[in-house]
Amino acid sequence: MTTTEAPSGHPTTTNEAPLGPTMTTTAAPLAPVRAVGTGHVRVEGRDKVTGAARYAGEVPFAELAHGWLVLSTVALGRIRDIEADAVLALPGVLAVLDHRNAPPLKTDYVGLLGTVPDPTCAVFQSDRVPHRGWPVALVVAETSEQAREAAEALVVHYEQVPHDVEFTGDRHDTHPADGHMPAVTDKGDLEAELAASAVVVDATYTTPEEHHHPMEPHAATARWEGDRLEVVDSNQGSTWVVGELANLFSLDPASVRVRSEHVGGGFGSKGVRAHQVAAVMASGMVGRPVRVVLTRRQMFTLAGHRSPTVQRVRLGADADGRLRALDHRSLSRTSTVYEFVEPSAGVARVMYDADAHHTENRLVRLDVPSPTWMRAPGEAPGSFALEAALDELADKCGIDPIALRLRNEPEVGPVSGLPFAGRNLRACFEEGAHRFGWDRRDPRPGVRREGRWLLGTGTAAASFGAGAAPSTASITAEADGRFTVRIAAADIGTGARTALTLVAADALHVPPERVRVHLGDSAFGPAMIAGGSMGTRSWSWAVMAAADELRERLVPGAAIPAGGITVRSDTTAAIAALAQKERHSFGAQFAEVAVDPATGEVRVRRMLGVFAAGRIVNPLTARGQFTGGMIWGISMALHEEAARDATSGGPVGADLAGYHVATHADVPRVEAYWVEDDDPDDPVGIKGIGEIGIVGAAAAVANAVWHATGVRHRSLPIRPDRVLTGGRDA
Ligand code: MOS
Repeated sequence: MTTTEAPSGHPTTTNEAPLGPTMTTTAAPLAPVRAVGTGHVRVEGRDKVTGAARYAGEVPFAELAHGWLVLSTVALGRIRDIEADAVLALPGVLAVLDHRNAPPLKTDYVGLLGTVPDPTCAVFQSDRVPHRGWPVALVVAETSEQAREAAEALVVHYEQVPHDVEFTGDRHDTHPADGHMPAVTDKGDLEAELAASAVVVDATYTTPEEHHHPMEPHAATARWEGDRLEVVDSNQGSTWVVGELANLFSLDPASVRVRSEHVGGGFGSKGVRAHQVAAVMASGMVGRPVRVVLTRRQMFTLAGHRSPTVQRVRLGADADGRLRALDHRSLSRTSTVYEFVEPSAGVARVMYDADAHHTENRLVRLDVPSPTWMRAPGEAPGSFALEAALDELADKCGIDPIALRLRNEPEVGPVSGLPFAGRNLRACFEEGAHRFGWDRRDPRPGVRREGRWLLGTGTAAASFGAGAAPSTASITAEADGRFTVRIAAADIGTGARTALTLVAADALHVPPERVRVHLGDSAFGPAMIAGGSMGTRSWSWAVMAAADELRERLVPGAAIPAGGITVRSDTTAAIAALAQKERHSFGAQFAEVAVDPATGEVRVRRMLGVFAAGRIVNPLTARGQFTGGMIWGISMALHEEAARDATSGGPVGADLAGYHVATHADVPRVEAYWVEDDDPDDPVGIKGIGEIGIVGAAAAVANAVWHATGVRHRSLPIRPDRVLTGGRDA
């Protein structure tokens, strides 16, 4: 087997190489250059570390005014009155925007991915308050401090009615929910196969409410110039935000421009949200640019979140571990204003086959903010439940957990029946087991000790979809011998700009130093968002298509005209022509933990992931994507949990002290590798790596905790108090 090892983290090239004077004409096609597959530091890295890179809240605007959102302090009811006059008299205050003076928005449209907009974005449209933290007003002032002071002084009167935020697995007011996949899949006679099984696992797993918390809080500045709207924003897709704003405000999308040059993380939370809409409204009202920035605390209600889940998994197997029955049912929660499903049962549709197979995603509507996509929506919590259940089955059958998984490798999609476009899970496990030293593992739990620590190891499998969505790109061959790529991609910290530089260089047969990539601007035309792990795959396709055409247009030796030669691509038809297959990345996760049974402390000692994720464009940043995902998995397993207070209906400890995410001290040696994963039928060969790293990671940690202690933890996070009470909540 061939494994490509990620380099250890030092720059191998920079984009600073000067161009020689001989490059004023198009070079004859050089010998094929191979930038893809070699490590490159981020092309904007210098700008970022020197502070030259400007984030959305820092871009200067003349005559800038500042808006501050006022959020409801009740969880359900109506606004009776807002005492706006009192704060309009405060220093610097320019306006108070609320449902009484806000322009009407159009909300009955179908947006990107066939979804209707989350009404959380359609701010100030009525006096209704559907959850605590609902935006009820925006105070606009000369400075951010004045806006905040006035916003905090604004008195809002409510008519409050009893709310319900209690999420439990035994609610009766649930319903099956489709989301972006069907709610239910069903094959065979589940109960009969369970009854005929030699070994059965029937267990319920829970995961808590989780929040994205990118480093950079959400920020947007809106400016009207006549009928034209300009927004500088922090988002995961500029043309996506244009589309939503154009729909909401009934504008021609051509009259809206959204730019988002640098983004400090998104994790699913940076689409169109209340603050952009409020900024657009306010800018129209005061006739000046208006900036609205969210605080960390506001992000707990305005940025979306991952729903808690309750998942029941039933596995029935023959004594040798072959699955006869697989049943995975997940309940998640949504708001009363928007139907968003965390599709946790979906991962079973890809991972394992069984004679009888049932999966189901259900929802309950509660008086909470709308959840949204977050870090492998569905797969992250779903893989915790499914892969922990597999571990329980392995123990019951007396079979090695890796052998059990490989025994149940499906030939085709377990639900779809479609062939896999590469399924190299076996290679991931073989390589991972070798690197991790799995063969030295004593399968018995609770037998390894080191001083006060109990030690254990665990593993889990991972998969994540490898989709592509239509995108457009342009490439200009410049007279100076350089090439300029323009695409409305988003680099949310992943290294997308650098990856596209390498992809373009190879496709143009030139060194990457001759390629400049401009992204994050809706003026460049429609493109896929940085989401669903589909960005790099989708954008690369468009860049490669444009490059192919441009190379045909260039005459070797001929001078390029002063304005350059530009070609545009659109991958809509090519993607529609792609054969129907099960397209996914796969991975094998390994963790070693130490548990102190006296304090309940769990420390991850090392973690290893081996992935099959198509062609790896930039090993340096890819490694960061994989290990970053794995660290989020550690965080999910041990730390992240948003507490929601039943009485107030709001979050408790709504800051990064109350909501702990894994920090350096929590993150030990985390290593990622990958195996070859070619699909000769795929024109791009890139599968996308944004989310696969988190999938299975929490299960690997939880399975290691079981191996260390002999106690099965079916509720995340595995807090010290849960360790001390043997997995039961005190
Ligand atoms: Mo990601 S949760 O698809 O932005």
